[in-house]
Amino acid sequence: KTATLILDPAFRVGPVRPRLFGSFVEHMGRCVYTGIYEPGHPRADADGLREDVLALTREMGVSVVRYPGGNFVSGYRWEDGVGPVEERPARLDLAWQSLETNAFGLHEFMTWADRAGVEPMMAVNLGTRGVQEAVDLLEYCNHPGGTALSDRRVKNGRTEPYGIGLWCLGNEMDGPWQIGHKTATEYGRLAQETGKAMKLVDPSVELVACGSSNGHMPTFGSWEATVLEHCYDEADYVSLHAYYGQDGDLPSFLASAVDMDAFIDGVIATADHVRAKLHKSKRIQLSFDEWNVWYTDSFEGGTWEQAPRMSEDLFNVADAVVVGNLLISLLKHADRVGVACQAQLANLLAPIRTEPGGPAWRQTIFHPFAHAAAYAKGDALRVVLDAPRVETAKYGDVPVVDAVATHDDDGVTVFAVNRDVEESVGLTLDLRALPGVRSAERIVLSDADTGAANTEAEPGRVTPQRSEVPVRAGEPLLVELPPVSWNVIRLT
Ligand code: AHR
Repeated sequence: KTATLILDPAFRVGPVRPRLFGSFVEHMGRCVYTGIYEPGHPRADADGLREDVLALTREMGVSVVRYPGGNFVSGYRWEDGVGPVEERPARLDLAWQSLETNAFGLHEFMTWADRAGVEPMMAVNLGTRGVQEAVDLLEYCNHPGGTALSDRRVKNGRTEPYGIGLWCLGNEMDGPWQIGHKTATEYGRLAQETGKAMKLVDPSVELVACGSSNGHMPTFGSWEATVLEHCYDEADYVSLHAYYGQDGDLPSFLASAVDMDAFIDGVIATADHVRAKLHKSKRIQLSFDEWNVWYTDSFEGGTWEQAPRMSEDLFNVADAVVVGNLLISLLKHADRVGVACQAQLANLLAPIRTEPGGPAWRQTIFHPFAHAAAYAKGDALRVVLDAPRVETAKYGDVPVVDAVATHDDDGVTVFAVNRDVEESVGLTLDLRALPGVRSAERIVLSDADTGAANTEAEPGRVTPQRSEVPVRAGEPLLVELPPVSWNVIRLT
């Protein structure tokens, strides 16, 4: 099979904002406890933060991390997680029917974020709580001092305000499973009033209103429209969440980004419909603050264990290719998607796996994320792609190759996937608009066994391969994309 791709720096979509390469740490399963935080572990620092996980987080290039949930936040009392650890209450975490000791809380997370070099994205509880608790948390975090709450932060060891700039107004409030689930009108009004009060405390904060939990929710579209009609002035972003699973139909799974593209386009259309209806000039941005592959639903409620093993999916080569393709979809929409968080960071649905007392290692999905975070810089470029199509049961016939490019002072980088299960594709890059290109480096992640994965016993089983591709000035560049592969081509 063959395909052609025309590259031109003039085909600009928008700037690649660093917040596209975000992640998510929820009090769920072993993401926090024995994931990023494990006092007594040989690699833990004096604060109990695992340095091996911190190093991998930095290597991955994570820019922003959403915290503390997820469904967890809808029953969370943030005050439980501040002050002397020995005085913090143990609580039932109703979302995951686990035991929450509160040994890890706000200050521990902010110390972790500082060491990981990431921006915090804080969620407030709009499930069981409301306006007052949200502004209390914001005042505690961001007010310099001289009030009961800001002085409490100082007493708890943090003199300078944290200055947290990005805040989620609740989580998945459209989902019937959510604690404190609301109708669109109930939530829209609450988001409006909470957002209004939060911006009175600190006008610099950026706020994310909850959109749909996925694009297949029965209320999708009408939820966003109603919510935004209420809180258009207060919200800066509307959220999207999507997880894609394998159910034995590999071609459809490999085409998951088709669904993500349609979901994003639907939310943009809805937000802009409200903009027109309300005669607004501001455009609402998108925060894709939960996305990933996820197919092992191993949640067993009712045990009230602390940090139970939950959804610790072992990701393979096909999963990595889908993750790469989802990153391509986000980059293709760089003009409107301003924040994106892969869910989650450690252990459950995660690029980083750990064992209690044991090692930390990179899952296959670590690699495409790290490549995109490292090399997608400057402007995102639309590419003109002519590729054969493959038939899928879920999405009909789809182009076998999907791709995007980015352009900065260092050159142009192409990100491409081959979604064909059996055949490689010879991709011809038309470089007529890039006469200065002299060298090309190519990174590929593929394997004859698409089910191959990295494990504790064999953590380097699936590793990307790097090579040089010969460039002849003025001629097109030919790159072979193996079946089920993630490819990065760096042109300088
Ligand atoms: O990321 C896991 C869970 O998935 C989150 O808690 C929730 O928001 C979503 O449904």
